[in-house]
Amino acid sequence: MDTDELEVGLIGGTGEEGRGLALRWARAGAHVTIGSRALEKAKATADELNHILEAHADERAGHWIDFGENRDASAASEFSLLTVPFAYAA
Ligand SMILES: NC(=O)c1ccc[n+]([C@@H]2O[C@H](COP(=O)([O-])OP(=O)(O)OC[C@H]3O[C@@H](n4cnc5c(N)ncnc54)[C@H](OP(=O)(O)O)[C@@H]3O)[C@@H](O)[C@H]2O)c1
Repeated sequence: MDTDELEVGLIGGTGEEGRGLALRWARAGAHVTIGSRALEKAKATADELNHILEAHADERAGHWIDFGENRDASAASEFSLLTVPFAYAA
């Protein structure tokens, strides 16, 4: 699979699981959008992760991480991954 073509939205991507996945997908070249219930929280997370990516930039890390409210992260992406606590997944 060509990861450069992937658009991945992380619903509740501001937690540990979402942040870890976001960094790894982005370093593989995917376009990642961090979703949150709160736009400012999504932005703060994306800013933090983009600083990490910038510090470790290599030729695979071409797409920086975007952000939005959960519904926008889902709409912007081909795949949406739920990274909220299991109790709230439904
Ligand atoms: N952390 C790990 O190492 C790890 C490892 C393996 C599996 N997992 C699994 O991955 C999932 C996420 O783990 P996590 O540690 O990242 O969880 P977390 O930090 O507790 O929560 C992740 C995000 O879920 C959102 N959220 C919390 N309560 C919500 C609610 N009631 N409705 C909608 N969104 C809500 C929050 O995002 P906003 O406030 O930004 O909306 C939060 O930042 C869990 O099911 C966990 O079992 C985690």
